[in-house]
Amino acid sequence: MRLIERLLYPRLELNEQKLDDEVTGKTIVITGASSGIGKQLVKVLAKSDCHLILAARRLERLASLQQSLHKERAHIDVYGIDLREEVSRERFVDFARDVSPQIDVLVHCAGHSIRRPVRESASRMHDFTRTMAINYFAPVHLTLSFLPELEESGGHVISMSTINACLPPMPHFSAYQASKSAFDAWLRSAAEELERVGVVVTTMYLPLVRTPMIEPTKAYGKAPAMSVDQVAVRVGRAIYKRQTSVRPWWLSPLQYITLHRRNLRDYSAGRRGNDADR
Ligand SMILES: NC(=O)c1ccc[n+]([C@@H]2O[C@H](COP(=O)([O-])OP(=O)(O)OC[C@H]3O[C@@H](n4cnc5c(N)ncnc54)[C@H](OP(=O)(O)O)[C@@H]3O)[C@@H](O)[C@H]2O)c1
Repeated sequence: MRLIERLLYPRLELNEQKLDDEVTGKTIVITGASSGIGKQLVKVLAKSDCHLILAARRLERLASLQQSLHKERAHIDVYGIDLREEVSRERFVDFARDVSPQIDVLVHCAGHSIRRPVRESASRMHDFTRTMAINYFAPVHLTLSFLPELEESGGHVISMSTINACLPPMPHFSAYQASKSAFDAWLRSAAEELERVGVVVTTMYLPLVRTPMIEPTKAYGKAPAMSVDQVAVRVGRAIYKRQTSVRPWWLSPLQYITLHRRNLRDYSAGRRGNDADR
């Protein structure tokens, strides 16, 4: 690993025994399990005697992952679904209920990113409706649907958010960032209510992660990125530690600096007469 990556994303160890103790006998739903972070997480969890219910559009990839893990201890069910469709999501919830009387952990990994300047987006409203459908409506709908089971089990909801939800938005990713920020805000609001009924919520504020999602963006080719192994380690730790938020060590200071800069900019704009409330 490059020095810069070691500094930004220090290697953490997974206590496999603690994870095994935590997930044995439990049912874990993972969306977006056919690739990247979700797929790596499945490989880690499959070592335990738990029940994994996996969802993504590419059923053949889920089936081949299931096949490759058939000697592991987990029982794995797979389901092909386009999570952008509400009716399909309802069918998936029925399927999960058919194959398991309980749901203990719900991991939202499915997501879609789009990089496009707004001036090239006029005829592409579908960029915005599709990213909202997969990055916002799907995880909201599944969380609400599985709430009775999660409440019953004192369960756990885990979301793959992005550090950008905590920082000033980047140009060219307006559709992606708006939809990820929408779910981040929804989950932060819901978390308080869920925690009162015994459901833990973990938001993973992820930096750039080396997965197929970032491949189309050439500029990311040489940028420091976290490995999927290290994301899976962090999710595993969040499961047995029941952490509410997982973030790189440098995110909070960076958040503070950017907020401070923004306040200064807003203040000087106000002094120039741009702020209607003054
Ligand atoms: N990579 C990063 O730098 C990064 C950074 C911060 C946060 N994240 C978040 O981490 C999560 C995982 O991303 P990744 O990097 O592992 O990307 P990835 O390798 O592209 O995986 C995305 C997963 O989402 C599934 N998916 C996409 N659209 C779907 C749909 N309409 N219906 C059902 N499943 C769908 C894909 O499966 P199918 O194509 O088979 O449907 C795939 O399994 C995402 O929520 C992403 O926003 C990633």
